[in-house]
Amino acid sequence: MQPRQAIGKKFHDGTKHSYQSVLMNPNYVDQSTQPSSFKFYPHFYRRIKLDINNPIHKFIWLTSTITCEKFYQKTAYKLRVNPSAGGLYPTEIYVQIRGIENIIDGIYHLEVANNSLSLIYELIDDGLENYIIPGKCITGFIFLISCVYYRSSWKYQNRSWRYCCLDSGHHLGAIAASAYIHNREIQLIFDFNKLALNSDLGFENKEFITACAISGEFQDKQIRSLRLKIPFVCGTNYFEANQFIEDAYKVTAVQPSCQQKLEFPLYQFAREEFLRVIENRRSIRRFHKQPISQVNYLHILQETTKPIPAENFEKIEIFCVIHRIDDMVPGLYKGMGLIKEGNFCDKVGYLCVNQAIARDSAVTLFLVSAYQNYQTAMQIAGFIGHRVYLISNYLGIGCSGIGAFYDDETQEFLGTDKDVLYAIVIGK
Ligand SMILES: Cc1cc2nc3c(=O)[nH]c(=O)nc-3n(C[C@H](O)[C@H](O)[C@H](O)COP(=O)(O)O)c2cc1C
Repeated sequence: MQPRQAIGKKFHDGTKHSYQSVLMNPNYVDQSTQPSSFKFYPHFYRRIKLDINNPIHKFIWLTSTITCEKFYQKTAYKLRVNPSAGGLYPTEIYVQIRGIENIIDGIYHLEVANNSLSLIYELIDDGLENYIIPGKCITGFIFLISCVYYRSSWKYQNRSWRYCCLDSGHHLGAIAASAYIHNREIQLIFDFNKLALNSDLGFENKEFITACAISGEFQDKQIRSLRLKIPFVCGTNYFEANQFIEDAYKVTAVQPSCQQKLEFPLYQFAREEFLRVIENRRSIRRFHKQPISQVNYLHILQETTKPIPAENFEKIEIFCVIHRIDDMVPGLYKGMGLIKEGNFCDKVGYLCVNQAIARDSAVTLFLVSAYQNYQTAMQIAGFIGHRVYLISNYLGIGCSGIGAFYDDETQEFLGTDKDVLYAIVIGK
């Protein structure tokens, strides 16, 4: 049963896919009308070009940088460290830097297209802390993730509400991965005064903050809210409002998530090797239907259970449909518990809107939750998804997020009344 106070469920229900809905509305778009996926502040803002030989610069650079260019019909698509539904990249990163040598204390926008930071606000006695953790001052870094939602709603309409949140969770995962490489701890925060921040950062209705990641030292000190508003700069070259998404965001931005004790995960990756994995991470586009070993599979599952470093939290459960894993009976599992034995390749391919990668994978994971706050739950699902990508790639196994599935039929197949938030395929 969903808890009675589930915040945002009606916006999940309002974005369900079914066989009929996909048939009626297959999301075809004229590619030439795609809104821009890079945000630029005007030229007069001071910029720092990120130098990857400087560890502080590289820490920030590795959260978002472009790692590959692909050409489709002569158009170049720039792919990044973070995956994104449809490669539309609605998320942006802002970082407040305080007390770091050779960098002016300020709020910076990470200009991904040029690998640079634009200084959009200089700090005096003010900063982001008062919106996020009043009474504290952070020496170090406060990352904010925002969504320029039209980049995604242009194609996926209302369902893009889900993808904005999942992409945001992946972007948090990319920040966590960079933090690990740079020997830094991070804490994720989902419950804070997002609406006041959107207003003071000048986002109007076109961009909204979804999450925060802090890497730094906490000190007891009152920091006041921003003394000036930051001017509005549009993250796309044109814009069409979507009231459904704006309402979904607002409702889920102000209600509390579940709480848990803060605990940090312990990773044991070889750092050099892990860096190579981050820089080369890609979504698999086709599987050769080969099995993966049980040892590797258990390793991947174990990573998904490591603590998420956040006090605001939503519990995610994972159903696994095993198609091809050495020494394991094919079927539907919850953790290691077999629920239903059988070959469900075709069924799962169908449920994921007839996508061959869900049929040909070694295993397809479904992340479900009886959340209290939907915005938080979806981001945690994306964060876990990012871990699955990186650990799979680290083990030489392919992975892809799957945002498109027939909701009710998938729920029925899994035998759960919890909402299905995300699917992930892994295999060879
Ligand atoms: C939330 C989310 C949903 C996605 N859904 C699908 C999907 O349904 N089918 C698919 O083939 N790829 C899916 N992808 C993968 C994206 O298409 C891929 O991340 C994007 O094209 C960028 O490529 P890259 O991950 O190789 O950098 C999804 C990715 C994310 C983050």
